[in-house]
Amino acid sequence: MNFCVVGLQWGDEGKGKVVDILAEKADIVVRYGGGANAGHTVIIGETKFALHLMPSGAVRPNTTCVIANGVVVDPAVLLEEIAGLEAKNLNLKGRLWISACAHVVLDYHKLEDRLREEALGAGKIGTTARGIGPCYADKTGRSFAVRMGDLLDMAALKQKLEHIVAYKNKLFSALYNAAPISCNEIYQKCLDYSKKLGPYICNTTELLHKALDEKKTILFEGAQGSLLDIDHGTFPFVTSSNASALGLGPGCGVPPQQIQRLIGVVKAYTTRVGSGPFPSEQDNAIGQRIRDKGHEYGTTTGRPRRCGWFDAVAVRYSAAISGITDIAMMHLDTLAEHEELNICHAYQIDGKTTDFFPADSNLLARAQCVYQTVPGWKDDLSGISRFEDLPQTAQNYVKTVEKIIRVPIKMIGVGPRRTQVIYR
Ligand code: GDP
Ligand code: IMO
Ligand code: MG
Repeated sequence: MNFCVVGLQWGDEGKGKVVDILAEKADIVVRYGGGANAGHTVIIGETKFALHLMPSGAVRPNTTCVIANGVVVDPAVLLEEIAGLEAKNLNLKGRLWISACAHVVLDYHKLEDRLREEALGAGKIGTTARGIGPCYADKTGRSFAVRMGDLLDMAALKQKLEHIVAYKNKLFSALYNAAPISCNEIYQKCLDYSKKLGPYICNTTELLHKALDEKKTILFEGAQGSLLDIDHGTFPFVTSSNASALGLGPGCGVPPQQIQRLIGVVKAYTTRVGSGPFPSEQDNAIGQRIRDKGHEYGTTTGRPRRCGWFDAVAVRYSAAISGITDIAMMHLDTLAEHEELNICHAYQIDGKTTDFFPADSNLLARAQCVYQTVPGWKDDLSGISRFEDLPQTAQNYVKTVEKIIRVPIKMIGVGPRRTQVIYR
């Protein structure tokens, strides 16, 4: 049985924790999209891991980790993560594999990300400045792309970089009046990446298909959230990859019929980092209470996350496009101490009521939430391990959401640790 774990909101749903739990049963954990814009938190005992590129399975010493072709790899971040894990006695040699077809994020991508956002001013996307958009743009543009496999032929890469950097310098100077970047500096960094990451680079599609033949258990770890999907999310306030489960096939070369269980991760409320419409946002004391109790500050950028009520219209949509079989709802504990809780089950847009999520930022910016209000609870849920032991109102909240989104909620998070999960 192979699993996929994917976020159903705007990211940071708690995927790292869910992947860590399910990785116990997996031989291989695969990242198939996104890059170092992701920040996946795994807490084991007193140790907290914040993983950006490394599959969350890395924290289990016997799990094979694959960074597949769909990922955009910032080698500097990856080397830092490898060193950080090795310092905690988690060796990656012989169990980490990086696709030769994965694209490389270089300094000029990060520079362009920053320059473009600055130039956009108030209209900015609010990216993580990790060079994600520019790198995926070079991937689809093809002529200026660098892939991990290019690090294995440094003579050819030197020539390629000269051509690319000359072009980027002309562009950045004309558009942003930016100082030129040094090709030699980038080349020297690539020499180091080549030496250190070369042994990990291989054909991960072959590796995965051999594992499928051998009936190994593979866990596919989604990054970001479905509402940030480049095609199906709230464009243009999205990331540059197919962040829903739809990105799995192109991102690693495994067809959808190989995945038997697709777990959609949600928070019991909604958060978003960066710009873009967010109909159920509570930019008020309620949102602040959620932010404080849930420690809602970005794992990658430290930015405060925007917080709001659970948007069941959005989640029903993202579960549908990803073919989700069951839901893991995290952070139920964070919702304690609200007199009443609101669940958005429909939108009113221009006087019309709809329960289908319009993945159109202009429409969504005009959407008014129609809420179902249910009673809250005061109790601390963090020590509860059985659904029946939850306060009736918390049980009722989960059941109400489940009814609206029409997908069973099988895991419930009541704290950040591996053990703080209720299984239904
Ligand atoms: P990811 O990007 O989806 O992996 O999520 P992040 O790691 O960016 O953010 C989720 C945050 O919530 C992390 O700090 C987790 O440790 C924490 N977390 C996960 N599940 C729960 C839960 O059920 N309750 C609480 N209180 N915290 C949780
Ligand atoms: P994980 O995997 C939350 C958001 C950014 C911004 C938009 C575009 O931890 O859930 P980008 O740098 O990708 O060009 O930024 O997408 N974003 C995320 N928000 N969690 C993430 O990842 C995110 N990855 C990107 O905040 O709004
Ligand atoms: Mg995150």
